[in-house]
Amino acid sequence: MAQPQRIVVMTGATAGLGAHALGRIAAVPGTRVLIGARGAGREVPAGVEVLPLDLASLASVRAFADQVCAEIGENLIDVLVLNAGAQSPASEARSADGFELTFAVNHLAHYLLVRLLVPHLAEGGRLVITTSDTHDPAVTPIAPKTLDPLALAHPAKGGLGSGMRAYAASKLCNLLTAQAVAASADVQDRGVSVVAFNPGLTGGTSLGRDSSPVARIVVRALMGAIFRVVGLFKPEYVMSTAERSGEQLAQVALGVVTPPPGRIYVSLVKGEPTFPDPSELARSRDAQQQLWRDSADMVGLAQ
Ligand SMILES: NC(=O)c1ccc[n+]([C@@H]2O[C@H](COP(=O)([O-])OP(=O)(O)OC[C@H]3O[C@@H](n4cnc5c(N)ncnc54)[C@H](OP(=O)(O)O)[C@@H]3O)[C@@H](O)[C@H]2O)c1
Repeated sequence: MAQPQRIVVMTGATAGLGAHALGRIAAVPGTRVLIGARGAGREVPAGVEVLPLDLASLASVRAFADQVCAEIGENLIDVLVLNAGAQSPASEARSADGFELTFAVNHLAHYLLVRLLVPHLAEGGRLVITTSDTHDPAVTPIAPKTLDPLALAHPAKGGLGSGMRAYAASKLCNLLTAQAVAASADVQDRGVSVVAFNPGLTGGTSLGRDSSPVARIVVRALMGAIFRVVGLFKPEYVMSTAERSGEQLAQVALGVVTPPPGRIYVSLVKGEPTFPDPSELARSRDAQQQLWRDSADMVGLAQ
């Protein structure tokens, strides 16, 4: 008899912690994995299906979702892992659709994937969206304290620190989206579980690769030293490895690690899962609904 297949669809599986998670997920017998990736010829574990996806283009996101549905045919997705993320040095770059690039890649593209693929999740399936504790002012001072989706999509000014602020805001958007989906009647009726996953500070990934080589070396040396000192007082600043964070993402995706009932936030601290409240703003129902509405307008879908 053919082995029952678990279907996993994933973004952000070609580098960093996502590549490690992919290795673990794809090794589980009876698992069919489809990933979205930029460019051809990506190195992936045997059997993993690679579909073209550039999250900086909404047309590419739509084409990816269509192709996933065509590939799985009558079947449904068991686990949808939206892990891709990018961090620009400043908020001047724009996506193919004219939105600030970090907001477009990290939030808007994944919001559209949620809208297009969550209806194809199986009953009892799982949605994992990778966020970051940089969304939370209790963890980092650059975290957003208010939400203005239109200003995030079309920032009036860039400059020093704007890339990091855009990144933190996009990760707040990931959390707001996860909470909005988790609260929706459709998802609750179908018993779909939703997790917002924070890998925590993780070294050895390519995040920030768009900075100049000199800036990368300086930041790595400086931040490494600063984080080691701050980590003595704030455990969130103790750096984990891509292997460890990827292993935990796989555990969350496979349902081995699940938050307690009524909670959706899994936040790694020193590489170990914790289940704290996200920031007050991330928990705001008004903010969740506002982002959902504005994002629907931006991607051209009904609310
Ligand atoms: N590292 C940390 O300290 C940390 C902390 C908190 C949260 N996170 C989050 O964890 C996730 C993984 O980050 P990482 O540190 O592992 O970073 P990474 O090594 O840079 O991996 C990012 C992944 O996203 C993909 N990606 C980026 N832009 C894309 C685009 N336009 N279209 C399609 N795919 C795209 C990359 O694909 P390519 O291979 O084509 O580049 C890669 O697979 C991100 O969501 C990040 O925000 C990381």
